[in-house]
Amino acid sequence: AYDASPFVPSGAGLDALRKAAADCKGCPLFREATQTVFGAGEPSARVVLVGEQPGDQEDRRGRPFVGPAGGVLMRALDESGIDPADAYITNAVKHFKFEQAVRGKRRIHKAPGLREIGACRPWLAAELRLLDPEVVVALGATAGKSLMGSSFRVSHERGVALPLPSLNGGGDEDGEGNGGGGGLLVATIHPSAVLRSDAAAREEAYAGLVSDLRVAARLLD
Ligand code: URA
Ligand code: SF4
Repeated sequence: AYDASPFVPSGAGLDALRKAAADCKGCPLFREATQTVFGAGEPSARVVLVGEQPGDQEDRRGRPFVGPAGGVLMRALDESGIDPADAYITNAVKHFKFEQAVRGKRRIHKAPGLREIGACRPWLAAELRLLDPEVVVALGATAGKSLMGSSFRVSHERGVALPLPSLNGGGDEDGEGNGGGGGLLVATIHPSAVLRSDAAAREEAYAGLVSDLRVAARLLD
């Protein structure tokens, strides 16, 4: 099965993890993408935001949420009262999955499948274990499934604080430092869903994103 585990160094800090992730071959996505896009933010972050996977611009620039969806996310964070300095931003899958347009150079985003989500989860688990945040925000279905299991439905469970299960199968004895276990999770839509909404629905989609992020912000007060 696809699996990043053999590439994840044990006992590594965030910088060493980021370095090792650059050479991950845990699933086939590394072949076509430009580079691994690891999480970004301070080790002291109190909230971790988890997206789906890097997009076209993130793939080129090597940083998460620097494209159009990132613009929506930064605006929504600001409006919800989450200080970006308190936030670490990452993705469930760390390579860009895409399809080449039939004509032209455009690369068309493809949603990662459960196999790729599962393969890449050890990186997310390692990030959460080190960051040990108070709140994790799942941005969209891919993050929701990676963090909560494949039957998780964002539309049913968004905007409320849920217990975050351990991501490291088995967990450890004291129940701490087990990759997120013990923290809280708030799920919401992916910021790109706002961009995909037609003009009539866009404002409401954005307001929903902000309102869910406010739930996360209140947990940090
Ligand atoms: N969408 C994501 O889910 N993550 C990014 O980093 C950019 C766009
Ligand atoms: Fe490794 Fe994740 Fe990239 Fe697959 S998507 S090669 S598991 S870093």
